[in-house]
Amino acid sequence: MSTINPPTLPIRRIAISTGGGDAPGLNAVIRSVVLAATRLGWECIGIRDGYNGVLQPDQYPHGGTLVLDREAVRGIAHLGGTILGSTNKGNPFHYPVRQADGSERDTDRSDELLDWFARHGVDALVSIGGDGSLTIADGLQRKGLRVVCVPKTIDNDLDKTQNTFGFDTAVAFATDCLDRLHSTAQSHHRVMVVEVMGRYAGWIALHAGMAGGAHAILIPEIPFDIEAVAAKVRTREAAGRHYTLVVVAEGAQPQQGERAVAQAARIGQAERLGGIGEQVAEQLATLTGKDTRTVVLGHLLRGGSPTAFDRITSLRFGSAAVRALVQGLSGVMVSLAYPNVVYVPLGEVAGRMKTVPADSDTLRTARDIGICLGETALSAAERLSAAGG
Ligand code: F6P
Repeated sequence: MSTINPPTLPIRRIAISTGGGDAPGLNAVIRSVVLAATRLGWECIGIRDGYNGVLQPDQYPHGGTLVLDREAVRGIAHLGGTILGSTNKGNPFHYPVRQADGSERDTDRSDELLDWFARHGVDALVSIGGDGSLTIADGLQRKGLRVVCVPKTIDNDLDKTQNTFGFDTAVAFATDCLDRLHSTAQSHHRVMVVEVMGRYAGWIALHAGMAGGAHAILIPEIPFDIEAVAAKVRTREAAGRHYTLVVVAEGAQPQQGERAVAQAARIGQAERLGGIGEQVAEQLATLTGKDTRTVVLGHLLRGGSPTAFDRITSLRFGSAAVRALVQGLSGVMVSLAYPNVVYVPLGEVAGRMKTVPADSDTLRTARDIGICLGETALSAAERLSAAGG
């Protein structure tokens, strides 16, 4: 790995920021970065709520930043959330600045941030976040800041890393919910539609749906035919199985229709998805005549303690970020390439999304064991050719 942005000065102080939607494991990363860095004699400064602690200091009567020493990170590795706070509304390159007439103007405040780092002797930044945070970090490193990123998101939709931390915890929780829903769906002979997060990728829906024994799984990568799902319900009815569990990713969309958007994009803020579960439930009730209910797992997927896998991944990512800086790397993301943690240039990951590939073995397994993916019935030959062999 070449040095992308060679350091000219030794590091004495680093800043840590957590941005975007929170994910279980953030605190374990923070703890790992701080413990590894303080052993090298570096000081760590935590920025509150992404970069808002620096860009909106008036909002923080007790300070928009905090010193992170060993004491500050004691006993946090197993806790959900982030002790620094997070936001998905604080992109310094597209900051919503309120105007006199009440409107908001898209403003580039990245120079103010870099200036603050320079004035406070911050030699490098560890940015922990998803795609939005990676893109911001890439922009900052292009302006000369030394940056190492740690990939976070329950959605698992970041490219060039086998896993992001938070995903395993979200899948485990959703699976537990599905286990619980089986019995009530069965008792009441209902169709239960479970909507899960994941943005434009179906990782959470696919993995939780398979682990939790769902009968149909609808993901954004495969636009669905509601008739195919209704057919699955009817087939089960005919076989004496009077209940059906359907897992729907929030980004799933019908073949003839739109994605369900709960809130349109705003300045520096992505659109918010949601509502497809209820649509699917209503249509299935009409098409099958079955009693149907919807459960939206939503932000429950982001809460709670990280699984052991996510804790270990987070701890490994945090110390790897510090090692990257020691090696003089900048503009890289730490990445899981099992069994190793490696470094990937930000230019290769920022702005790219990892969706479930059409030839995924997991998808093929789902089809092989009879899970409905909302596909219009294909002949065996068509299906084989669609899956590439
Ligand atoms: O990216 C994580 C995520 O939880 C997505 O799965 C979801 O679409 C989004 O964040 C929700 O964001 P918010 O916290 O703004 O509702």
